[in-house]
Order: sequence, then structure tokens, then C-alpha cells
Amino acid sequence: MNIESMPTYDQSEQLAKATAGVAAFAAKRNDRWYPLDHIASDGGWINDPNGLCYFKGRYHAFYQLHPYGTQWGPMHWGHVSSADLVTWRREPLAMAPSFEAEKDGVFSGSAVVSDDGKLVIYYTGHRWRNGVNEDEGNLQEQCMAVSDDGVHFEKKGVVVPCPDDRILHFRDPKVWKQGDEWRMVFGVSTPEHKGEIWMYRSDDMVNWTFDRPIYRHPDPDVFMLECPDMFPLGDKWVICYSAMGLEPKGFQARNHNNAGYVIGSWEPGGDFHQETDFHLWDDGHNYYAPQTFQAPDGRRLVFGWMAPFTQPIPMEDDGWCGQFTLPREVTLAEDHLRTRPIREFAELDKDKRDFGPIELGVNESRDLVSDALTADIQMDIDLSSSQAERIGLELHRTPNGDHTLVCYDDQLERVVIDRHCNTYGDRGYRTAPVDKSAGSLKLRIIVDRGSIEVYVNDGLEVMSSYSFPADGPRAIRLITESGEGKAMITSLSIATPDTIWEGTGR
Ligand code: FRU
Repeated sequence: MNIESMPTYDQSEQLAKATAGVAAFAAKRNDRWYPLDHIASDGGWINDPNGLCYFKGRYHAFYQLHPYGTQWGPMHWGHVSSADLVTWRREPLAMAPSFEAEKDGVFSGSAVVSDDGKLVIYYTGHRWRNGVNEDEGNLQEQCMAVSDDGVHFEKKGVVVPCPDDRILHFRDPKVWKQGDEWRMVFGVSTPEHKGEIWMYRSDDMVNWTFDRPIYRHPDPDVFMLECPDMFPLGDKWVICYSAMGLEPKGFQARNHNNAGYVIGSWEPGGDFHQETDFHLWDDGHNYYAPQTFQAPDGRRLVFGWMAPFTQPIPMEDDGWCGQFTLPREVTLAEDHLRTRPIREFAELDKDKRDFGPIELGVNESRDLVSDALTADIQMDIDLSSSQAERIGLELHRTPNGDHTLVCYDDQLERVVIDRHCNTYGDRGYRTAPVDKSAGSLKLRIIVDRGSIEVYVNDGLEVMSSYSFPADGPRAIRLITESGEGKAMITSLSIATPDTIWEGTGR
């Protein structure tokens, strides 16, 4: 494919318009739920993390952005960067639709550093087949853009056109270097509407040839695997994807779309051999389209999008919508992945207070904090000497009684995040399994202005959910419910993380 033949236009005008669009929202933004510790756009809608990388001394995170609305719309790429993964600064918007193949959206993709030291982005150029909406499917092709400074990008056009007119979804390239070659995987909905991940290979980053479908989803309901990723971890390979069409079953796959992974083995030139079941990345209400990358020290890091999925989505009225999860480190834990906040996050913590150990009777409560916009909570529970049926924390507790409950539930033998006492937003609960026979339970809970992340037993399970508190101070209360006996909290501390944004009060 001769990329020089693709017409490209100066996109600076589009970017200037989009920047003004974001600024108009930012000027009127209501900050009641706007994150202090999570990446979000200044204004407008965001979805997937894109182009995560380390380039010329800085970490870069891009994101799918609709600059003219607080709901999904024509996609652009927004951009933030950080020297240390702790504090972040906003960068100029990176890409706006500017040529025919991407005229309806600059969709998701990834970034790699070329051998000659350039930042190269692969992403999906998107068009509606009928010119207006998805009713007749999408026309999608993998495109390339190159940057010398990691901030300004020159588009190079289409590098992987869609080979079959009957394919209606063909997107989200993830690229890495494998030996002397480059590999690309992306999601495909086959002409039979089956979700697959296809692999391509290239010697020169420009000419790509089809290698094989590296993964075919076994479930006939699953028609598309969005945002696939494939990476080595220890002596294994992980394939992950965001599945469209997966039906809920018991505690599993309760969200509109669900992101997870399988672990197996792979040799270049061969097939992927799956060795584990499918696991969700995150058991919360709001998690989708994660992307991983390798930090220069070798750690595999993942950022997810806290997808708002279900109406009502009240932040839409506040001038912004959508945030990432905290960056998490991914490690192998036998047949699944452990994901926990990167260690650098603790550098933000201020005013750490110790409350434990605490012994609490049944149906009792203790007020711990009267007002917290952010919190980094660590709580260990001795399950073997606790008899209370539920032991946990009411978070975002406001004077009208609204709160989100995070607790261990002994009937379920699971950790629960329960939003049924909330005025704002979608309610409902989600759960994550606990091995009660271990005798103890370790919880780390990160509270932001509009979200809660729960890390169970050092990230063996994770739950991410929006939680939109009502007006007034936001208290934290320890509670126990029902059962005969008591709750034994062996340790409990609460710190107040500072904001991640450079120049805003740090
Ligand atoms: C996943 C996704 C991707 C696509 C992008 C468009 O959330 O649908 O498949 O590239 O979002 O914004």
C-alpha cells in the first residue's frame, strides 16, 4: 500500500476548533464529581485509553475524545503526559478527523517507538457506511501517524485496509515489536458476525501482511472483540479484549459490554494456545477497553476506561463525562492476573491516619472521617474471628443518608460494592470472590470525587464503579450488620491523596 497516495489535509484548524469545544465545557464545568486523581478530559466526553507509551522521558496517555458533547460522538484523540506517573499535565489535542478514511472518527489505537526514534501511532480510521450512523455498519481501516516530539502528529494514511466488504467492524490496532518484526492485532467481526482477533506482521512498519486469526471467541453471541491487546508476562502470553455480545451469567459479565483476558502460550509464527478460562479484568460496574504497555523498568501497566454504560449518567450534565481508572501494575497470579495501583500512587497520599485495630459489635457503626473528597483506605479484616454477616465502609455518605457501601458479605463470601442508597446515577451492586478459608481479607479502596475502586487481597480482584455523592460533606463510616458476635478489623488507615494535576494546588 502506497501511503503517499492517501490525501491528507492540514488538521490544525480542526484541532483548534476541538480545543475551543473542550474549553467551552471546562469553563462551565461542575466539579462536584470531577476526578482529582484520575485522568479525564477538561471537558467533553472521553472513552478508551489510547497510545499508552513512554517516549523521550515522559509517559503519554491519549484518549478517545468527543470535544463537542458529553456523550459519545465524532472521535478525536486527547492527550496527557507525565514524567513520573504521579502528576500529569495536559497536552494539546493530538488528532482530529482530517481525511476521507477517518472522516467520521479517529478511533482507538496504540503507540510504539520506531527504531529511528519516532513515536508511531496506529489507529482506526472510521466511516459510517450509510454516512450517518451504524445501521448499515462501519467502514474501518488501520491508519498510521508519526511524531518527532510525541505531541504533534503527521498522518500517513491507511496501512491496513479492510479486505472484505462484508466486515462491519475492523478496528483498534495494538502494535508491538517482536524480534526484528512488528506485530499488529485488532478486532474483527467476521462476515458471519463472529468476534475474532486478527494478527498482521510487518518488517518496515508500513507494509503489513495478514498472519492469522490469533483468537476466535468461542461464544456465538459474541460478535466483536474491541480493543484487543496481546502481551508476554513471565513465560506466558496474555490476550485480552472487550467483548460485545457476552450475556450475563450469575456474577459474571453484568455490564453492557465486558473486558477480560485469557492466558496461554504463543510462539511467533504459530497459534495461540489458551490455558485458562476467561477472566474479567475488573468486577465493578464501570470498566472497559483497557490498554497495557511496558514501562521502561519492565513493568506491565494497564489503564482502563470507567465506562458509564447505563443511564442515568449525571456527570453528562456537568460538562464532562468519563475517566480512566488508576494506572495499575499487572502481574501473573497462577491462572489469572493481579492488578494493583502502581506503587507511585502512594506518593500522593497526605495526612495518613491510623484507626485500627478495631473490634466492633454487630449492627454497630463508627464514624471515621467527616468529609473526604479523596481517600486511600487500607483495611484488613480478620475473617476467622469475625462473625458479623457484613463488615464494611459506607463511602460518600452525605447528610441525606446517600452512600455507597463497600463490604465483605459472609453469606456470599464475596466483597460487595453496593450503590442502592444513591440518589444520583445507576444503582445496583457488583461483587468479587474471596477465599474465606485464608482467614483474612485485605482491602484497599481508592475514593475520588465521583468514583470508587476496590482492590481485594492486593489486586487479586478489583472493582471500579462510579459513585456520585449527594450534596454536603462526604463522610466515611465503618459498619457491621447482623450475625452473632463481632467484627475484628486488624488494621485500618485512611490517607488523603493529593490531586494528580500539575499546577492545581500541589
Ligand atoms: C471501544 C470503542 C472502540 C473504538 C472506540 C470508538 O469503546 O468502541 O472499539 O475504536 O471505542 O470511540
